[in-house]
This record gives sequence, C-alpha cells and structure tokens, in this order.
Amino acid sequence: MSVERTLVIIKPDAVSRELIGDILLRFEHAGFHIIAMKMIRIGRQEAEMFYEEHRGKPFFPALTEMLAGEPIIPVVLSCENAIAKARELIGATDPALAAEGTIRHDFALDKSHNSVHGSDSPASAAREIPFFFGEAEICHSREVLR
Ligand code: RTP
Ligand code: MG
Repeated sequence: MSVERTLVIIKPDAVSRELIGDILLRFEHAGFHIIAMKMIRIGRQEAEMFYEEHRGKPFFPALTEMLAGEPIIPVVLSCENAIAKARELIGATDPALAAEGTIRHDFALDKSHNSVHGSDSPASAAREIPFFFGEAEICHSREVLR
C-alpha cells in the first residue's frame, strides 16, 4: 500500500445542515490528513463535467442540479490507501443500505442527498483533484504527517 490522495466533496445537503465539522472529524479521526480544502459554488455545466460518467442516466439532471449553485466543500485527503479507505468510511450510495457507523448511514438523507462524494478509483482521483485544486493549493508537507 502507498500514500494516496483522494477527493471528497461535502455536498450541499450536508453543508446546509451544518455537518461540515462532523464529517471532517470522521476523516481526521480515521487517520486522513486534509491537504487542501475550500468552500465554493459551481455552475450547472461544471457539475455536469464533474459527473460526466453519469451523463445520460435517469438521475443525471437531478444529480447535477443538486451539486450546482449551492455551497460545497471539496477536500483533498491523504493517507495510506486513501481512495478505498474513504469509500469505506463514506458507505453505500443509498444511506438505507450503508453500514452502521459510515458517514452516509449517519448523516445522509436519501440516495439523491447523500452528503458526501468520494473518488472511486485512482483514475477518478487523478481527474477530480485538479478539477478543484491547482498543485499550488495543495499542502504537500502535510502528506507525510503521521
Ligand atoms: P459519489 O460519486 O457522489 O461519491 O457517489 P457514488 O460513487 O456512491 O455513486 P455513483 O454511482 O457515482 O452516483 C453518483 C451520485 O448520483 C446520485 N445517484 N442517484 N437516484 C438514483 O438512483 C441515484 N443513483 C445515483 C447520488 O447522489 C450518487 O452519490
Ligand atoms: Mg461515484
């Protein structure tokens, strides 16, 4: 296993319910280092680009409408095996099916308002991190903290 970076987004449903701190704490307590973070809003076209893999699926319009226009928190996290480890901590897409103790089990409202995004593969992380952050915005020195 090696140290990896992954992209997590705290989605609008969680930001609006004041769950930013609770969600970040889950990652920090699990051993992730936050190496970049911001609060932004993106437009519909950017949301469509971000979720490009889902274009054409029935839930695509609702998905991109959910992500666009409202404050979101993209975060770059680093630790050993970060991509799979974050997905495990986040839990299944549908909170009704998510394991106890996962972020979606504890905080998500439903499948369409499931509080967090996490990169699903090294290729996704490599595409998604630069979508939100330039290299200069990433705090490399924190990557090696233990
Ligand atoms: P994410 O990309 O946000 O981390 O979620 P995921 O990998 O667990 O799930 P994915 O299949 O990539 O779906 C992306 C997002 O689309 C919404 N969705 N809605 N109503 C539906 O059937 C449905 N299916 C997916 C969810 O917001 C999901 O997180
Ligand atoms: Mg996904």
